[in-house]
Amino acid sequence: MLELKNIKKQFDGNIVLDDINLKIQKGEIVSMLGPSGSGKTTLLNIILGLTQMDSGSIIFEGEDITNTSMKDRGFNIVFQDYALFPNLNAYQNIVYGLKNNSKLINKEELDGLINFLGLEDHLKKSIYKLSGGQKQRVALARTLVTKPKILLLDEPLSALDGVIKETIKNKIKDITKKYNLTTIIVTHDPEEALTMSDKVLIINKGRISQFGTPKEVINKPKNNFIKEFILSQLQIKRNNIYSLFGECYV
Ligand SMILES: Nc1ncnc2c1ncn2[C@@H]1O[C@H](COP(=O)(O)OP(=O)(O)O)[C@@H](O)[C@H]1O
Ligand SMILES: [Mg+2]
Repeated sequence: MLELKNIKKQFDGNIVLDDINLKIQKGEIVSMLGPSGSGKTTLLNIILGLTQMDSGSIIFEGEDITNTSMKDRGFNIVFQDYALFPNLNAYQNIVYGLKNNSKLINKEELDGLINFLGLEDHLKKSIYKLSGGQKQRVALARTLVTKPKILLLDEPLSALDGVIKETIKNKIKDITKKYNLTTIIVTHDPEEALTMSDKVLIINKGRISQFGTPKEVINKPKNNFIKEFILSQLQIKRNNIYSLFGECYV
C-alpha cells in the first residue's frame, strides 16, 4: 500500500497542493483527474521522488520513504512528452534502464513485453520515424523493463486520438492487471479516468475533491465542482452524439 499523509507544496508562494491524504492499495489503478493547473503533475512527481514536498510524508509498504531518493524508491514514470532519447533507436531506448542493472528482466520477459506492446517490427527505427502511438508504446516499454514497484503515467493518452488512443488505453489496462502493478495515471479527461481505473481521485486547486470508484463518482458526486466540471463534460459528449445520431447507447 502507498499512503500519502498531509502533503503540502507551494511554488513561489502559491499553494499548489494543500493537505493531500490518500491510500492506494497494491495492484490498484488510480486516476488523478482535474483541470489543467490543479497540481496533478506536481503530486505525481512528489510520489516519484523527483519533486520535494514542503511537508507531509509518504509511506510505502509500511516504510517511511519521505526522504528516500527517487532511485531507491524504485517507482518509474512515463512523462507526458515521453522524453525518449532521440539519438537512440527504439530498442536502445527500451533497454536503456537496464544498463546498470541488467538482471531486472530476462530475455524472455523482454521479448514478451515487446510482443505484447506490438513493437517487434519497430525496434531498429529511429525515434523520429515512429508514430505517436509507437512512441508511447516505446516509452511504456522503457519504463516497464525496470519493473517499477509503482507505475506513474502523466497524461499517457493526451497526444493520441481515435483508435490508437483506445488501443493504448486497453494495453495499459491489460498490462497493469497482468503484472498486478499499482498504477497512477494523471489525466484531465473524465472519460479516460472513469473508464481506465479502479478508483478516481478528483483534484481541484490542489485539494482532493473526491476519491472513489468510477461508479461512486458518477452516482454520488460529492460536490458541485464534480457535477459541473467533470460530469457535464461527459454530458456534453453524450449530447453531441445524440444530436448527430439520435438515440444511442453511449
Ligand atoms: N517548477 C515549478 N515552478 C513554479 N511553478 C510550478 C512548477 N511546477 C508547477 N508549477 C505550478 O503549479 C501549479 C500546478 O501545476 P501542475 O502540477 O503541473 O498541474 P497539472 O498537472 O494539474 O496541470 C500550476 O499553477 C503551475 O504553474
Ligand atoms: Mg500536468
